[in-house]
Amino acid sequence: MLMELIFNLGLLLIIVILLILLSWVWPPDSPWAPRWRTKKETARAAFKLARLGKKDTVYELGSGEAIALMVAASEFKAKGVGIEIEPFRFFLSKITVWRKGLNKEIKFVRGNFYKEDLSGATVLYLYLVPQTLNRLIPKFRKELKKGTRIVSYKYEISLPLEKEDKKNELRLYII
Ligand SMILES: C[S@@+](CC[C@H](N)C(=O)[O-])C[C@H]1O[C@@H](n2cnc3c(N)ncnc32)[C@H](O)[C@@H]1O
Repeated sequence: MLMELIFNLGLLLIIVILLILLSWVWPPDSPWAPRWRTKKETARAAFKLARLGKKDTVYELGSGEAIALMVAASEFKAKGVGIEIEPFRFFLSKITVWRKGLNKEIKFVRGNFYKEDLSGATVLYLYLVPQTLNRLIPKFRKELKKGTRIVSYKYEISLPLEKEDKKNELRLYII
């Protein structure tokens, strides 16, 4: 009985370790890609590039741990909306934002960003792979207000480029 329990626990531990190892190499817009996240300095540079201010509402599609949204709210006094499909990261970001006292400024939607209305955004912050970014373009054209700024970290979008911060791998587009 005890041996069986030890064996099962060992097996579970091996599976968890394998999942953690796999998560390091999983594609960055997969719900299983926890290691792909924005650093605070990158978020700061992104919002400087977008000239973020207190009248703005930033939508982060696939908000992960909401690091960028917390920078937007605490340093730029903007409002934030995070859309995240993966339950653990959604829950973790909610708790962190609440712990930091930013829950009035930042709201979360647990769901699929393809299905959510983006018309409330004045700025979008994106860290997603090119395939996903380009699949989102028709939705951007349909739902975003004229003048909405889109900042994409690392990957290009097939839209006319407005500005670029090469050092931080950031690109700004305007709808
Ligand atoms: C590369 S991570 C970026 C996380 C966060 N934006 C950051 O920069 O720290 C991409 C995130 O998008 C989420 N995601 C992928 N597809 C999604 C979808 N269709 N709807 C909502 N979230 C999605 C993943 O779960 C993951 O947390």
